[in-house]
Amino acid sequence: MSSVVVVGAQWGDEGKGKVVDLYAQHAQSVVRYAGGANAGHTLVVGGETLILHLIPSGILHSHVRCIIGQGTVIDPRTLCEEITALEARGISVRDRLMVAGRAHLVLPYHKELDCLREKGARAIGTTKRGIGPAYQDKAARRGIRVSDLRDPARLTQAVEDNLSYWAPIFEAGGVDVPRVADVAGEVLACAETLVPLMCDGVAWVKATQERGDHVLFEGAQGALLDVDHGTYPFVTSSSVTSGGASAACGVGPRTLDHVVGIVKAYSTRVGEGPFPTELHGEAGDQLRAWGHEYGATTGRPRRCGWLDLPALRYAIHINGIDRLAITKLDVLSELSELTVCTAYEVNGTRYEMLPSEEDLADVTPIWETVPGWKSDITACRKLEDLPKEARDYLNKIEAWVNCPMDLVSVGPDRVQTLGRLNPFSE
Ligand code: GDP
Ligand code: IMO
Ligand code: MG
Repeated sequence: MSSVVVVGAQWGDEGKGKVVDLYAQHAQSVVRYAGGANAGHTLVVGGETLILHLIPSGILHSHVRCIIGQGTVIDPRTLCEEITALEARGISVRDRLMVAGRAHLVLPYHKELDCLREKGARAIGTTKRGIGPAYQDKAARRGIRVSDLRDPARLTQAVEDNLSYWAPIFEAGGVDVPRVADVAGEVLACAETLVPLMCDGVAWVKATQERGDHVLFEGAQGALLDVDHGTYPFVTSSSVTSGGASAACGVGPRTLDHVVGIVKAYSTRVGEGPFPTELHGEAGDQLRAWGHEYGATTGRPRRCGWLDLPALRYAIHINGIDRLAITKLDVLSELSELTVCTAYEVNGTRYEMLPSEEDLADVTPIWETVPGWKSDITACRKLEDLPKEARDYLNKIEAWVNCPMDLVSVGPDRVQTLGRLNPFSE
C-alpha cells in the first residue's frame, strides 16, 4: 500500500495539476481533498491544455479512478459542466469519478454572498466562487450536502431556511434575496448527473488503500492559503495542508507515506495579503510575462516575486513535506543572476522560518544572489542535461531548506519533467 499527498508549498498555482497528472500514470486512484472550484489545475499533454477546477487531475488516465472527497465544497453546476466538457473531448468520466455524499454544496447564493463581501472594505481578493460562505454554512451546521440531492423536498426546505438566515445580508447589500424555487431548481437540475456518482467517501478511500492501490491525494491551493496556517485573514477557508487530507478523507495520518511539496522556482500570489519577496514594477511584470502568470480560474494577473525560503521552510514543516518538486525552472532562463530570500529580519530579529502574520508587516528579506544559466532548458529530459548553474540552484535550494528534491519541471507539458517520475518507486 502506498499513499502520496501532493500539496502546494506556496500561495497556490505551483503546478499541482501538472504533477498529479504525471504521477497518476503510476496510480490507481486520485482523491481531491480540499477547496472547491476556486482551484484551477492545468494539465498540458501533447500540446493540448485542460484546466480542471473540481475533477481530480488523474482523470486523463483511463485506468485511474477519481473521487472528489468530503472535505471539498462542490458547485454542482460547475461539476456538471466539467464532466460534460471532458466527455466532449472523448474522456470517459462517469465510470471513473465518484463524489463523496458528505461533501458540501456551493449554492448560487454562496457565490453572490462572496461577491457582495468582496465589494466591502475588507476584500480578500477571493476567486468569487462562493468558497468562504459555503464553508461558513458547513461550520455553522446548516450546510447542504451532496447527499441532500436525493431528497428534493428536504433540500428545498434547507435552502429556504438558509436564505432566511442570509436575507439581512442581501438586503444590507441592496441586493434582492434569491428565490427559493430558483435556487432549488438550479441545484436539483444537477441531481440526475451527480446522484449516480455519489458514494461514501470514507469507505471508498478505505477500500482503495486496503486493495493496496497506489493512491494520490491531490491538494488544492497552497500552504500559505491554509485557513489555520496561512497569512490570515488573506487565506482560503479550508485545511489545504497534508493534515487536511487525513482529516477530511477520514484516513489516519500514518497511512500517508510521502508528502510531495510543489514549489515554483520563484513565487506568485493572487489576491490580497502579505508577500515579502514581491517584485513591483518592471521586474515583476517581466517575471509575469515569462511565466504567463495569469490565474487559471479567474484570469487575474498573479503577483510575482523571488523564491522565499523562510516561507518554504514553514510549508515543509507544517505539511511534513519529505520531497520537493520544483516547477517552472525554465521561466528563469533569461536571467543572468537569480535572487533568493534566505531569511527575514523583523525588528532586529532574524527568522529562518516565516513568523506569525503580526510580524509579517515589518519584514526585511535577506537576499542572496546566484548565477543564472542563460540558456533554454525546456528540452532537457534528465537532471544531468541541465546546465551546471541550474543544477547548482537546485542543489542550493535542497541544502537551504534541508529537503530532497524529487522532481524538476522545465515546461508545462507532461513530458517536460525530470527526476523521479514515479512517486511510488523507492
Ligand atoms: P496548480 O493550481 O498548482 O495546478 O497550478 P496552475 O495550473 O494554476 O498554474 C501553473 C501554470 O504553470 C499552468 O499554466 C501550467 O501549465 C504551467 N506550468 C506548470 N509547470 C510548468 C513549468 O515547469 N514550466 C512552465 N513554463 N509552465 C509550467
Ligand atoms: P489552486 O488549487 C491560487 C486565493 C484567492 C484569494 C484567497 C481566498 O489553483 O492552486 P477563495 O476564493 O478561496 O475564498 O480565495 O485564496 N486562492 C488561490 N490562489 N491558487 C488557488 O488554487 C487558489 N484558491 C484560492 O486568490 O487570495
Ligand atoms: Mg491553480
